[in-house]
Amino acid sequence: MTVKKRAGTYVYEAKDPAAMAKAAKAAAKLLQQGKLVAFPTETVYGLGANAWDEKAVEKIFFAKGRPADNPLIVHISGPRQLEALADPIPAEAWLLAERFWPGPLTLVLPKKTQVPDVVTGGLKTVAVRIPRHPVALALLQEADLPLAAPSANLSGRPSPTTAEHVLTDLAGRIEAVVDGGPCEVGLESTVLDLSRETPQILRPGAVTAQEISELLGQNCVLTRWQEESGAKPPSPGLKYLHYAPQAPLYLLRGEPQRLVSGLQKEQQKWEAAGNKTGLLVSAETAPFLQSDYLLVLGSRTDPAGMAARLYDALRRFDRLGVDVILAEGYPATGVGLALMNRLQKAAGGRVIDLE
Ligand code: TXA
Ligand code: MG
Repeated sequence: MTVKKRAGTYVYEAKDPAAMAKAAKAAAKLLQQGKLVAFPTETVYGLGANAWDEKAVEKIFFAKGRPADNPLIVHISGPRQLEALADPIPAEAWLLAERFWPGPLTLVLPKKTQVPDVVTGGLKTVAVRIPRHPVALALLQEADLPLAAPSANLSGRPSPTTAEHVLTDLAGRIEAVVDGGPCEVGLESTVLDLSRETPQILRPGAVTAQEISELLGQNCVLTRWQEESGAKPPSPGLKYLHYAPQAPLYLLRGEPQRLVSGLQKEQQKWEAAGNKTGLLVSAETAPFLQSDYLLVLGSRTDPAGMAARLYDALRRFDRLGVDVILAEGYPATGVGLALMNRLQKAAGGRVIDLE
């Protein structure tokens, strides 16, 4: 196995099956010793630690600079581990697990008392999923442990979708990263709370509200919790600014025919004031715009492809050193809902509605 090192962090290549098996073995050993290892999942890279080991999990919060009240998702490899973590497990959970696991759906369930408080931020529930990336599955099986793993970025930064993104944020702060190439989905998993009277989506993702509603035979919607309400958020993660690039991002929403002129107008305004202005747009809009700092997310006909490229684009703008980013908005349906949710978070309230 070729092992590189970056600022003290091992980089295990896992791009073919043989390398993957070796990397999983080496990484599993580190996890069993209570060390931190970043690994690819189909959504984003996760920063894993043995979920039963409080000291190991504490290191995650330190490495990321993550607030201690923001709970972690526990990654598992099968139903036996689910039963060790959650109780009671409602029928809906088994139904959803059968249909969507392994895959980008996280279930919030009542936790067993044995689950350390440091994992759940002191909550009485635990978030669990089986990821479907072959490296993540090999690692979970080899370690034979549930792995507490948030996205492997510094707190507040866009989630990493390549090993390079992980190293940019965490080289020297973690023991190793397993490089399994770019993530397929590119946005974090759907988080579904099954611990309340009715199922609630706390974070939209690639498994959509429609798919969940159809399977459960009941209408399942995105939580209506709003920052301004002053109420306690159902998911602590909701109250933190997430996914933010370094430059302020403005999200322009409106009909496609208004977007081009809206973007042009905003661009002129910012450039006239001497700002390096980044444009984050679709393939359909790009031909009508001109800028040295224009990034195309993909075609509006392929929201999943656009979602997969979002975080890399946000990090590219950081490297380009733009002063401001103007981002095109999309229809918030299907995966588009998750894409717009992350763009809105990156905008932190800077939304321009084009009338
Ligand atoms: O796709 C993903 O979910 C990735 C990969 C690595 O699996 N992980 C991820 O983890 O995005 P993180 O920590 O960045 O986001 C977890 C979210 C946070 O918003 C957190 O507040 C919420 O899930 N969460 C975790 N446990 C919870 C719980 N018991 N109740 C409510 N929300 C919870
Ligand atoms: Mg995160």
